[in-house]
Amino acid sequence: MNKVDLVGKDILDGAQFTRDELECIMDVARDFREKLTQRKQLRLVEGYVMGSLFFEPSTRTRLSFETAMHRLGGAVVGFASASASSTAKGESLEDTIRTVDQYVDIIAMRHPEIGSAQRAAAVAEAVVINGGDGAGQHPTQALLDLFTIKVERGRVDGNTIVLCGDLKNGRTVHAGVELYKHYDCKLIFLAPEALRMPAGITAHLRAQGVVVEETSELEPALAQADIFYMTRIQRERFADPAEYEKLRGSYVLSREIIERINPGVTVLHPLPRVDEITSDVDGLPGAAYFRQANNGVCVRMALIALVMGKA
Ligand code: CP
Repeated sequence: MNKVDLVGKDILDGAQFTRDELECIMDVARDFREKLTQRKQLRLVEGYVMGSLFFEPSTRTRLSFETAMHRLGGAVVGFASASASSTAKGESLEDTIRTVDQYVDIIAMRHPEIGSAQRAAAVAEAVVINGGDGAGQHPTQALLDLFTIKVERGRVDGNTIVLCGDLKNGRTVHAGVELYKHYDCKLIFLAPEALRMPAGITAHLRAQGVVVEETSELEPALAQADIFYMTRIQRERFADPAEYEKLRGSYVLSREIIERINPGVTVLHPLPRVDEITSDVDGLPGAAYFRQANNGVCVRMALIALVMGKA
């Protein structure tokens, strides 16, 4: 295993990782995945407490962070909505973080504003892990996506990855491309014109030598894909509901289209899905999105253990 030092480091942005760090996290996650299958109770972070601060809705990220901490032998406190915290009384994010910092050793947080995790990290002694900051970044999702690609395809290098849907607002894809750039992958961005990947991100990737294609045509992109990463058109990111209605349903992946165009494709989705992958896809061998959600626990265990110096 490559030895890297993540002790005490905040996890805020996909761009912060080196390839050695990514490989180390993947190796540690694989080890925890094995231990989870053996149902071993670990005591690596016994005596430590995680603050689970979710100012925005979540099923997978919050529950897998909390499960990860419990599986490592630690404890969890927190809230699952801004309305259940003193944010509802007008407390600033900084004051909330300064307060929680008196109680916990590590903070996993989600917040609707871009840059909120950086703001939290600037005032916290505890390690801060970004579980999604608005349309900004979602680095732990990107790590578990990378892990899933390794498990499902055997390797990351050599794959063509199609990223589809709301690439403008999609924090999972914004974080993901910062990981894929360390590997020999071709990226295809498939989105309606209004939801294209921000031009700055695409230019930054190309400047680093990443092969990136952009298209709005589903079938030719699917035909090239080893991995098809579908994302939801996110209603909550639209100021104008009429604009959302125009764009929802832009791309739908069905069993029929997969079997006709590319039956060997691996389908990922950070979830939740709405209507962009039909339920008849779920039974295909390449439909990996619930296995992907399962991988959230061992990858978050790895991150917690590494940043706390317990891996
Ligand atoms: N993938 C993901 O972030 O899901 P949740 O919104 O349910 O946490």
